[in-house]
Amino acid sequence: MAEKKQIQIEYEVLEWKELRLKEQEGAQKAIDMLEKAYAPYSNFSVGACVLLADGSLVSGANQENAAYPSGLCAERVALFAANANHPNIPVEQLFIVAKPQAGQNFATAHSCGNCRQVMIESESRQATPFSINIIIPDKKVIRIPSARTYLPFAFDGSSMKQAGD
Ligand code: THU
Repeated sequence: MAEKKQIQIEYEVLEWKELRLKEQEGAQKAIDMLEKAYAPYSNFSVGACVLLADGSLVSGANQENAAYPSGLCAERVALFAANANHPNIPVEQLFIVAKPQAGQNFATAHSCGNCRQVMIESESRQATPFSINIIIPDKKVIRIPSARTYLPFAFDGSSMKQAGD
């Protein structure tokens, strides 16, 4: 008989006013980064901002390319910049927002699988979870408590360290 198993994911939906001042700053920076997206092919702008444990903010926006796969998502632009410039300061929070360039409203859009995989690497590397905050219409925020929550069954370095059978 197959054994049935379940994974439950807990997350919060916050109002803007429930964010701490520093969190509002990070979320606002992600929103401001929408203007800096380079997205002439999809016309879909994404902004991201990393809040580090020392309070500094590192931001990014999606960068597209005529050779489509050569572009990069906003989350990875921001996370790679944070990890490259501040390799020893843990990421505390990641703020993300997306908007179709034609529209007024933010999209309710989650990070792609590749970005989640990169979040897993940053989180594993610092051995401390960080929250992922998706800014949605009305400036509400979906808060996922960790990269591991965001990507169940993740592949990480430990996946390669098991004894073979
Ligand atoms: N995009 C991101 O920046 N983050 C994601 O997690 C999903 C998609 C960007 C990539 C591309 O420039 C545009 O959105 C449309 O896919």
